[in-house]
Amino acid sequence: MLEKRTEIKDTVNKVSKKVFLYGWVNSVRDHGKLIFVDLRDRSGIIQLVGDNKLLDGLKNEFVLQIAGQVQARPPKLVNPKIKTGKVEVKVEKVKILSQSLDLPFNVSDDGKEINENLRLKYRYLDLRRPRMRKNLLVRQRAIEFIRNWLIKNDFWEIETPILTKATPEGARDFLVPSRLQKGNFYALPQSPQQYKQLLMVAGIEKYFQIARCFRDEDPRADRAYGEFTQLDLEMSFVDEKDILSLTETLFSQMCQEVFPQKHISKKPFPRLTYKEAIKKYKTDKPDLRKNKNDSEELSWCWVVDFPLFEWKKHESRFDAMHHPFTAPKEKCVADLLAKKNLGKLQAKQYDLILNGYEVGGGSIRIIDPQVLGAVFEVMGHTPQKIKEKFGHLLQAFDFGVPPHGGIAAGLDRILMILQNEPSLREVIAFPMTASGQTAVMKAPSSASSEQLKELGIKKSPRLKS
Ligand code: AMO
Repeated sequence: MLEKRTEIKDTVNKVSKKVFLYGWVNSVRDHGKLIFVDLRDRSGIIQLVGDNKLLDGLKNEFVLQIAGQVQARPPKLVNPKIKTGKVEVKVEKVKILSQSLDLPFNVSDDGKEINENLRLKYRYLDLRRPRMRKNLLVRQRAIEFIRNWLIKNDFWEIETPILTKATPEGARDFLVPSRLQKGNFYALPQSPQQYKQLLMVAGIEKYFQIARCFRDEDPRADRAYGEFTQLDLEMSFVDEKDILSLTETLFSQMCQEVFPQKHISKKPFPRLTYKEAIKKYKTDKPDLRKNKNDSEELSWCWVVDFPLFEWKKHESRFDAMHHPFTAPKEKCVADLLAKKNLGKLQAKQYDLILNGYEVGGGSIRIIDPQVLGAVFEVMGHTPQKIKEKFGHLLQAFDFGVPPHGGIAAGLDRILMILQNEPSLREVIAFPMTASGQTAVMKAPSSASSEQLKELGIKKSPRLKS
């Protein structure tokens, strides 16, 4: 059994008491007869002092158990840079619990100069860095606030499947081969879109999930390759106004609570139509900050009234601007059913923008199977394809579907902005590299011929293993 442990941050309240500390050697300073060691645990750093026989041979990142006595430092030796700077621990006993090789990089600075692939290869070391620790902790606090707030407001948190059928959000799918049904594949969800709509048919009324989404699309600083996390929510018996105002209150209060140093430049969040945004700012995600150098300014806004369809030049067809489940404005339904003025139809779609980034998007959904069918047809699906891909949803809508709508917010992207980080990989514990390789573990990796056989998959001879 470990001796009763004191966390380093609590040593300040234990002057002249005996304590047991556990942690990593942050640095060693050899002053001849006396050796000073900075010991680090999750809660902080403290200076240890002991004679050279006791503390000899210690190296950075060794893991230690220390028995010692907390003592106040003389006033002129107080270190104002650390929270435990008024005290130190006089070491009585040291036990080395494990040793460490020299680290491949320094973990005490912010690490921004180090090659990112190297940081990701040793992410478990990179996460020892105070900046990364803080990013993880703040992420947890933000999610905790969101979760508690939604539950207090009567939302139910419900998990939806990861091995599922494709749901269209505009990216490529990740496919997973099935062993039981050889030759068939699951798709990883690009979002829980269809499941959350099915939950509305089920009568859940207010759903949310901190949901992992999977999209095979080219990465950018603000766009993850592979997977990312959404705050996904859906509500029944609501209109656009309700969803906008709920989302706005949630994020304003979360910022106030978790990021009190930030100030929101305008409340309620300004609302622009898509047309206004494009005309005035030439983008559908305008950055409305008054001073773009002020890192504490948060400028949220809504862009609403998006077109229902966008023309895909290279495919010579219309595609849904958001996704095919998005409802057209009432005034546009007749034209949609008559397949008229398709480029001009407006949708009940809204995007949430923060400092020039699209951080959320959602819509009121179509519940009329005829209207949904028309959207699929405009997108170029044959009736047979519609049945194959979305028959389950159309069938569910035959059994009393409530009017519903929702939104999903990109949590990684929001946290990247709120933490003033240049890339969303800085706020994810184990992100993928830009070339799609997982951090630390080398995936994707080859599969054994037995596994492939079991799955009924034959590798093309042209592919190297
Ligand atoms: P959408 O596809 O607009 O909507 O996604 C919602 C939000 O998720 C974030 N996001 C991403 N973040 C990081 N990396 C990515 N690759 C990535 N892709 C998207 C963005 C975006 O605004 N099901 C609908 C929501 C709905 O209609 O309720 C959806 O997923 O911040």
